[in-house]
Amino acid sequence: MRDASPPRRRRRAGVVVLALVVLAIVAFAALAWRPAIDPVAPPARTSFDAALIQRGAVLANAGNCTGCHTVAGGLPFAGGLALATPFGTLYSTNITPDRDTGIGRWSFEAFERAMRRGVDRAGSHLYPAFPYTHYTRLTDDDVRALYAYVMTRTPVRAEAPANQLAFPLGFRPLLAGWKLLFFREERFQADASQAAEWNRGAYLAESLGHCSACHSPRNALGAERRGEHLGGGDAEGWHSPALNANSPSPLPWTVDALATYLRTGIAADHAIAGGPMQGVVRSLQQIPADDVRAIATYIHARMGPAAEPRQARATASVERARQAPFAVTGIGTGASAPAPAASGPGDDALLQLGARVYADACASCHAMGRELSSGSGLQLPLAIALYEPTPASLIRIVREGIAPGEGERGRWMPSFAGALTDEQIAALAQYLRRAGAGAPAWPDVAGEVRKARHP
Ligand code: HEC
Ligand code: HEC
Ligand code: HEC
Repeated sequence: MRDASPPRRRRRAGVVVLALVVLAIVAFAALAWRPAIDPVAPPARTSFDAALIQRGAVLANAGNCTGCHTVAGGLPFAGGLALATPFGTLYSTNITPDRDTGIGRWSFEAFERAMRRGVDRAGSHLYPAFPYTHYTRLTDDDVRALYAYVMTRTPVRAEAPANQLAFPLGFRPLLAGWKLLFFREERFQADASQAAEWNRGAYLAESLGHCSACHSPRNALGAERRGEHLGGGDAEGWHSPALNANSPSPLPWTVDALATYLRTGIAADHAIAGGPMQGVVRSLQQIPADDVRAIATYIHARMGPAAEPRQARATASVERARQAPFAVTGIGTGASAPAPAASGPGDDALLQLGARVYADACASCHAMGRELSSGSGLQLPLAIALYEPTPASLIRIVREGIAPGEGERGRWMPSFAGALTDEQIAALAQYLRRAGAGAPAWPDVAGEVRKARHP
């Protein structure tokens, strides 16, 4: 052994490394491989019970399937909607029962595997932009009802565009590794110490509603961070506020206010639902009021009691709302406000510019408070967007304005994208943050304004 010449030794080491690599590839392939499930003849409508289809319709709304599987102006469930992720663009697929381009030839077993384990009929892993990480908690009965509903929609011939993902993420077997790290197949477990309504709400919010898909922070690989459930996250260029004990809401939520907000998009003294939350409200409008109330009960419990610090914050917010235009001198003296960060030369000029923009562009509608009978809006010290860790949502609202969905009636605010410069929007955001919310300056507002311009 010892006198094996160096080249020979190197060759032997090479063989060992090669064997290990082959072994690793075989092990990974075994881990990643899933069998295809045989295609079936598309099931006839009459093979499903009408009541089951009806229940599936409600569940599909609770899960907002159309929100992702329908493009604006397109046919329902035909897919093709682009979903921007930090890893590239994914397209939702056609889930109508079309034989060739949809899921017409999927058996119940194939559908169930996709919903619960994120594997398609042919055996490929699916990207978790499809929230099977939440749908995995569905009951058997609910998966059956969803299948009955989806398989009885009008078939549409439509092929989704190819995904555009950063190399090597287009290689689906890699998702097996992701799942090993971050995905647990599970069923919803009722908590016996809680009332039936809480459990119903928890089931809907944590499975179909997939609230935490937007309202939880994610790690670098795009998985929800476990210890920070509902701790606030990002969605389509907006911030989704925390819905747990860290809720930054200036006024504590009540169950009634939450139920009204989730069903109508607007509750007294709270900001209107904007951005991606609009679609959630649109879907919750279609489900029974009791179910929405159950979700509100559960979310309210996650937020916890409105204890003293929260009450003090509410009193201070209401006080600031009453003093519009807000005194910049009040910064840092609010009950919960630490000294403003990043104050330095040029800071005063920035805040003065922000105050002028507010007075010229916003005060006419927002200074007096919301009148549902007119076009005026909430006093901004009561707007959640000022209390979030990033100015993303506030900048979006200012740039895009607020408009009801197509063909819907609702509240309206003009877009300021063409009327205000980036510098004015940044100054306005910082002014509202510090004077309106009495909170420390946001870092890098200019960067966020640029991001909103070039998403
Ligand atoms: C947040 C967006 C989103 C929502 C909500 C959503 N889906 Fe999807 N779904 C997707 C995306 C994206 C894909 C494609 C994933 C991929 O290509 O790996 C997909 C794929 C699927 C597939 C696999 C289809 C195939 O051809 O491989 C099924 C089945 C499906 N979704 C059903 C549903 C149902 C039923 C609902 C409602 C309960 C729903 N989806 C809600 C985004 C969504
Ligand atoms: C023509 C009237 C009008 C003007 C001008 C206006 N808004 Fe609004 N704004 C509204 C309405 C209406 C809503 C919808 C919600 C409501 O009723 O409060 C709204 C909503 C908002 C919200 C969400 C919180 C809320 O009130 O629900 C923010 C934040 C906001 N506006 C900021 C601004 C800022 C900043 C400006 C100035 C650049 C501005 N608005 C100018 C009418 C206006
Ligand atoms: C697609 C992403 C997305 C999903 C899914 C989602 N939300 Fe939201 N939600 C948002 C965003 C973004 C906002 C902030 C809206 C704004 O600033 O106007 C928001 C705001 C809210 C607010 C207001 C918070 C506050 O303190 O003012 C509540 C309450 C809420 N969502 C509850 C829910 C519940 C309950 C669910 C699940 C049934 C849910 N959301 C699902 C994106 C989402």
